[in-house]
Amino acid sequence: MKNNNIVLMGFMGVGKGSLARELIKLTDRVAIDTDDLIESMENTSVKKIFEKESEEYFRALEKKTSLWLESSVKNSIISIGGGFYHVGNLQKIGHVIYLESSFDAILDRIKSSKNPDKKLKKRPLLQDMAKANALIEQRHPQYLACSDTVIQTAGKTSSAIAEEIMKLLKL
Ligand code: S3P
Repeated sequence: MKNNNIVLMGFMGVGKGSLARELIKLTDRVAIDTDDLIESMENTSVKKIFEKESEEYFRALEKKTSLWLESSVKNSIISIGGGFYHVGNLQKIGHVIYLESSFDAILDRIKSSKNPDKKLKKRPLLQDMAKANALIEQRHPQYLACSDTVIQTAGKTSSAIAEEIMKLLKL
């Protein structure tokens, strides 16, 4: 496996972070989140980067992050932001798992979480639900094209999905 990383890809709110935390419990790997890397690089939040700079600026930071992941990160679990797939070198970073879910199931997941308002507010592209719904439709074929494996997540717990990944990757 390229760099031997597990790359968790999917739309905002699908549960990449929770899944990464479950995978940590089952492996001896550490987890990295590309939004966290960008926030520490810029010393500000993703929300503020969108507001004070632009989405284009944020996408360039994602590209920079992807080059660093490719050159320097091995044997890890990497959660990528929902739009990170555009970087062009995902396949060189690791085994890419597309966590597929319908928009309705994602919204249900967010609404039943501990702090739904916070989860929505921090995501600039999850403010207008009609636009977000169109975005997931538009991205779905691209997620498929970038992935090595597709896992349906609706109705499954993060720990069940983590077990599924362990079996799939023979870890
Ligand atoms: C984005 C997803 C977010 C974050 C940014 C843009 C997107 O990450 O990178 O708000 O374009 O889908 P999560 O998928 O972790 O919410």
